[in-house]
Amino acid sequence: MSTSDHDRLLIIDFGSQVTQLIARRLRELSVYCEIHPYQNVTDEFLAEFAPKAVIFSGGPDSVTREGSPRPPRSVYGLGVPILGICYGQQVMMQDLGGRVEGGKISGGGGTAEFGRAFVRPEGKLDLLRGWFESEREQVWMSHGDHVAALAPGFEVFGTSPHAPFAITADTARNFYAVQFHPEVHHTPNGAKLYENFVTLAGFGGDWTMGAYREEAIAKIRDQVGSAKVICALSGGVDSSVAAALIHEAVGDQLTCVFVDHGLLRLDEAEEVVGMFRDHMNLPVIHAQEQELFLGALEGVSDPETKRKIIGRLFIDVFQKYADQIAGAQFLAQGTLYPDVIESVSFSGGPSVTIKSHHNVGGLPEKMGLKLVEPLRELFKDEVRALGRELGLPAHFIGRHPFPGPGLAIRCPGEITRAKLEILRKADAVYIDQIRKHGLYDEIWQAFCAILPVRTVGVMGDGRTYDYACALRAVTSVDGMTADYYPFSHDFLGETATRIINEVEGINRVTYDITSKPPGTIEWE
Ligand code: XMP
Repeated sequence: MSTSDHDRLLIIDFGSQVTQLIARRLRELSVYCEIHPYQNVTDEFLAEFAPKAVIFSGGPDSVTREGSPRPPRSVYGLGVPILGICYGQQVMMQDLGGRVEGGKISGGGGTAEFGRAFVRPEGKLDLLRGWFESEREQVWMSHGDHVAALAPGFEVFGTSPHAPFAITADTARNFYAVQFHPEVHHTPNGAKLYENFVTLAGFGGDWTMGAYREEAIAKIRDQVGSAKVICALSGGVDSSVAAALIHEAVGDQLTCVFVDHGLLRLDEAEEVVGMFRDHMNLPVIHAQEQELFLGALEGVSDPETKRKIIGRLFIDVFQKYADQIAGAQFLAQGTLYPDVIESVSFSGGPSVTIKSHHNVGGLPEKMGLKLVEPLRELFKDEVRALGRELGLPAHFIGRHPFPGPGLAIRCPGEITRAKLEILRKADAVYIDQIRKHGLYDEIWQAFCAILPVRTVGVMGDGRTYDYACALRAVTSVDGMTADYYPFSHDFLGETATRIINEVEGINRVTYDITSKPPGTIEWE
């Protein structure tokens, strides 16, 4: 069975910021779905995709504007249930003969509405089963335009003070259209609406991790045949799960290369190599290239130069080791679904480069390799579930992200071996504290940075002149935005004392309380 044999739901993306959340809600219900930008959804595409149901996402445009985004008309003739959300509701109304008006700032009837709102149910609708049972329910609205007249066949099943057509349906055709966003956290019971929608569309919930594992293995065997595969193992969750899965599929045809650039955390290389080599019996080349990297970084303090040097050397080193594996034809990569989704860009312009992330992007063409990307259909938490399914230890699966350039970008200014040693020890104490206090899983990422300043302190009766370090801990969903973690003063005080007592070379500890934006998570 391949993904195309599953019941498939199509999400047509009109550019909402939260379209991915719709997919998340559906995957949680074991429903296979794909997001496609409206421009790509043609009559031929629909025929080939053969969705069992369709969802229209929200979007920033106005259907009252000439040339605004629309799905092909044939979508309404597929005979499958359709759910329109916000802009998607307005599209459906306009396409099917209703009327949409631009938002008014105040006044009765339909007006622009942003934020929390309360919807009153009107009559019974299967889509709302188990949810709209009290007098009113909280939802999240974010719309400028509103529906002013329903399309023929539609009825109203819920109203809010500013959206008289908050919930509408044509039950004969199984078309549903809501003004609010059921996929967001601020619509507390919104998941129920998706559950009811997929139930009435007849989805059986056949998208499970066990099934995915079996299919992915069959697919890898089919793609790779008897050829050899190489994988750059970083020790992160994505490349580790990809490696474990490919190993299960093709065994020793896979060789992993773990590039040790000397910028790893305390005992990290041994842990990663030990786990794969000894516990999983997976062939791993431990490329000990610390001297090469640290030598090239000597005297360099500019963040982008550091990143460029590390990125370039990484590719050279990986290629050197990969060349020793005779007959390798494939390169494995832990690419995830969010990297693959072609999002709808309304600005059109290129975005500013804040930091040049390093990856092995250019390698396949350079080395004449084909890609194996067995995680392309998964979200991060699904990758974690797959890792557990494959028997990777829980503490490994739940590890915080770690950047490719490693400690280099946590050591602002010049990098020296001595500073790296101090940083490793301080970071280990900090993470130990977080684990001991049971906070590790609440925090998205935590680490220590060693600052390029030395400060005066007093320990015992003596003067010290040592480095200051900064602790960083953030909450985030995807690393794109983040907030600092609100540790208690007791925790911060205890951690500072431990670091200063246990780590020679540090006599001052600070806590970074910058959110992203305006800061970034890493210091460089
Ligand atoms: P920033 O510092 O940009 O980081 O807010 C966002 C997330 O990305 C990680 N990061 C990287 N990951 N290669 C990576 O694989 C990189 O070059 C890189 N730079 C930052 C960072 O740790 C955080 O999780």
